[in-house]
Parts: sequence; structure tokens; C-alpha cells
Amino acid sequence: MDSSQGRHLGQVNDLPAGDMNVVKAGDREILLINTGSGIFALENRCIHGGCSLLHGKLEGETLRCLCHGSVFDVRTGAVIDGPAARSQPAYALLVENGEIFLAR
Ligand code: FES
Repeated sequence: MDSSQGRHLGQVNDLPAGDMNVVKAGDREILLINTGSGIFALENRCIHGGCSLLHGKLEGETLRCLCHGSVFDVRTGAVIDGPAARSQPAYALLVENGEIFLAR
């Protein structure tokens, strides 16, 4: 495990398909999501009202916030259904040798 390219966030083995996990990185709460087709990262606090998306409902590559029902594409953070009016911040990841890093 040594990527000089970004901050280490965790291991793929700790994030089974269909699972989510929150990692703190400085002031940020980064939600790691394994959809089964890939590992993605969004800001954990919902852009609409600040609820934790860790408690949301993951369905395929969409994540529904349980507070007011906004649905985001976990690959990009794009809003699929409101009331959120802006995209959820998404983070680029590097996955190397089973280790997950935040890309700079
Ligand atoms: S806080 Fe997430 S939809 Fe309102």
C-alpha cells in the first residue's frame, strides 16, 4: 500500500458490494460506495439539507436520501430526483492493489 498520489481511505475488502462506509478526511465526510460495478465516493452530507447519506437507500447506482427523498447518481453525484437542486459533491478515487485512495 503506497500511493503517493492521494490520501488512503480504506481497503476494497472492507467494502463488500452493496455496502457503504464513511471515512473522515480533514473536514470532509466521504461516503465510500461499492455498487458492485465499481467504487465511488460522494460527500456524506446531503446537499439538500445535510442528512447523512450513509443511511440512504442504495439501489444499483442510485442513492436515495431518506430525509426528503432526493436521488443521486453515485457515479457523478448528479441529481436524478429532487428536492435537491444541485449535484451532490463527488470525489475521484484511485484503487490500487485493493487499496482505495482519494485522487488529488
Ligand atoms: S436532506 Fe437529503 S433530501 Fe433533504
